[in-house]
Amino acid sequence: MAVEPLIDESSIQHRLEAMGREIEDDYRDKPLTIVAVLTGSLIALADLVRRIRIPLRIALVQASSYRGKTTTATTLVVNEAFAPDVAGRDVLLLDDILDTGQTLSALVQHIEDRGAASVRTAVLLRKIGRQIVPIEPDYCGFVIPDVFVVGYGLDYNDDYRHLPFVGVLRE
Ligand code: IMP
Ligand code: MG
Repeated sequence: MAVEPLIDESSIQHRLEAMGREIEDDYRDKPLTIVAVLTGSLIALADLVRRIRIPLRIALVQASSYRGKTTTATTLVVNEAFAPDVAGRDVLLLDDILDTGQTLSALVQHIEDRGAASVRTAVLLRKIGRQIVPIEPDYCGFVIPDVFVVGYGLDYNDDYRHLPFVGVLRE
């Protein structure tokens, strides 16, 4: 399969720089913990945090969604092995992409339940036309059309995550 470039490496880095500035301004003198959603947000996490010049902590969450046999509703199961300690912290939840919105909205609830002082969300990409759960990301890198993308953390069957750019997967 071929990967057709959609967002190049330097555009991503420029955008992360701007997001870093926004996050710095918003979280100055606050106990910031960036909670990254495995595995897709790892590359963005590494590049973003190195552009934020205020103190912060990093934590990880892993969640898997299961679609019931008799229903189309998906259930998100959070892996408790990671159990990020967010009590009293101002959390910024980071994911690779907002698609239907189910993952991020369920994780916001999960982090709130763990005692975070506040929870906001950041995504590298937001796909338009697919959202079913109403959630507005507080920080968004790029809005993209309804196409399947890979690279810069995003995978297709666990491949392509290492690409330094975001591209569209073509048969
Ligand atoms: P949501 O819960 O539907 O918003 O799904 C978000 C998750 O679906 C992301 O964390 C990705 O793992 C995955 N996903 C959604 N769209 C794409 C895509 O275009 N490429 C790769 N993964 C995607
Ligand atoms: Mg993912």
